[in-house]
Amino acid sequence: MSTPALLKIDDKEIACPIMTGTEGEKAIDARNLRKDTGYIFYDQGYGNTGSCESAITFLDGDNGILRHRGYAIDQLAAHSTFVETAYLVIYGELPNPKQRKQFGDLLRQNAHVETQMQRLFEGYPKDTPPMAMLASLVASLAGYYPDLATNNFEKDLQQFDLSAAMAISKIRTLGAMIYRHTRGLPFMHPKDLPFCDNFLHLMFSEPYQDYVAIPEVTNALNLILLMHADHEQNCSTSTVRMVGSSGANLFTSLAAGIAALSGPLHGGANAAVMQMLQSIHDEGDDGTRFIAAAKGGSKSNRLMGFGHAVYRNFDPRAKVIGEACGVVLKKLGKSDPLLDIAQNLEQAALKDDYFISRKLYPNVDFYSGIIFRALGIPTNMFTVMFAIGRSPGWIANWREVASNPKGRIYRPRQIYVGPVKRDYVPMAQRG
Ligand code: SDX
Repeated sequence: MSTPALLKIDDKEIACPIMTGTEGEKAIDARNLRKDTGYIFYDQGYGNTGSCESAITFLDGDNGILRHRGYAIDQLAAHSTFVETAYLVIYGELPNPKQRKQFGDLLRQNAHVETQMQRLFEGYPKDTPPMAMLASLVASLAGYYPDLATNNFEKDLQQFDLSAAMAISKIRTLGAMIYRHTRGLPFMHPKDLPFCDNFLHLMFSEPYQDYVAIPEVTNALNLILLMHADHEQNCSTSTVRMVGSSGANLFTSLAAGIAALSGPLHGGANAAVMQMLQSIHDEGDDGTRFIAAAKGGSKSNRLMGFGHAVYRNFDPRAKVIGEACGVVLKKLGKSDPLLDIAQNLEQAALKDDYFISRKLYPNVDFYSGIIFRALGIPTNMFTVMFAIGRSPGWIANWREVASNPKGRIYRPRQIYVGPVKRDYVPMAQRG
């Protein structure tokens, strides 16, 4: 048992217990701080605050370590698939053959979207932002499957295996439907295919011509989705936990996570990276001018895909995806001038003191768009791809919240900086 932290405030001294995680992470347990002292900690953006104990993913940002349930991301990238890693993230263990078959069967059995639900698309203008459509469509799953979304944790957990598989499978199918809707293409029906093959079929098949993916394409898609499976308490995952802590069902909580992911500082960055690379290419810049502007410090001029709220070292996912880019492009017999620009930017930034001193390295979004583009996925769908990949992590975190018998609704405090007490002024007396 660690020696408590002593906090001396005014004339009081309180002892705060120390918590230690299985990887040796330390925390000061401040759960009684306000009750004992009347004070709260202030930590804008929660960068120094732990909101929960979680057994799903371990991140060591200083040493570039990412593990899901103890398995290192580079091992999973080398040996696993998205569906197997999704099972691991959700259930805590790699599936045995029987479990893997049952999970795969549930995913295939729930790949379709009800005809009545398909009519929701009639209400979306074709240029509706894909993530706005995805968030609202996923929220509406609670209406089509009310027995899985009772907002009663005990009942919802009894149906968890089905609702979890349904969520992963339908977010995948809805993602493809959103792509087709924005292009005015008819929806395809899911086939009895593996997860990634079915996605590519739903995206690219024609009514009389099935799209049959070559292994290099499905392998690349498996890898890129796997790399997004979970990432500790990032903005969207914390949002899923926040909403779930109110007792909200899985579908509603996932919709909130999708909304959070859509922001350009979070999941929207992969699309922003490609727009950045394209503009550098179109301006005939080799990246030099852009990097100079990115050092100006304004949020609107940032080197997108660089920097991270946790990693102060390489994002291990960026290394794996960066290495895969060249391999995938070569296997597909494609080249992409934007890859050359991305590599030039990375080399230049990693030698530049501005980035070195701020410990800014490529993150998961820096190279992922190159692979998505090589697979024929348009930029406005990149964040939807991120959501498909992140769905297992969100689901696993919702389950931790729902299963916690000592769980509490998330309710952070604040420091009020508005006007002090004042009396009402009748309209006649206002200037
Ligand atoms: C994801 O949390 C997760 O785990 C997220 C994620 C996941 O898997 O869920 O990993 C996915 O969201 C990856 C990040 C995607 N976003 C981007 O690539 C957008 C570009 N990056 C940044 O906006 C920024 O780095 C953040 C938002 C990612 C992190 O922001 P922080 O930690 O709050 O950093 P900061 O804004 O406090 O910046 C610290 C300094 C500032 O300079 P100074 O004020 O010290 O002079 O670094 C600078 C910033 O101006 N800076 C950058 C920069 N990122 C930070 N300068 C230029 N380009 C950048 N990309």
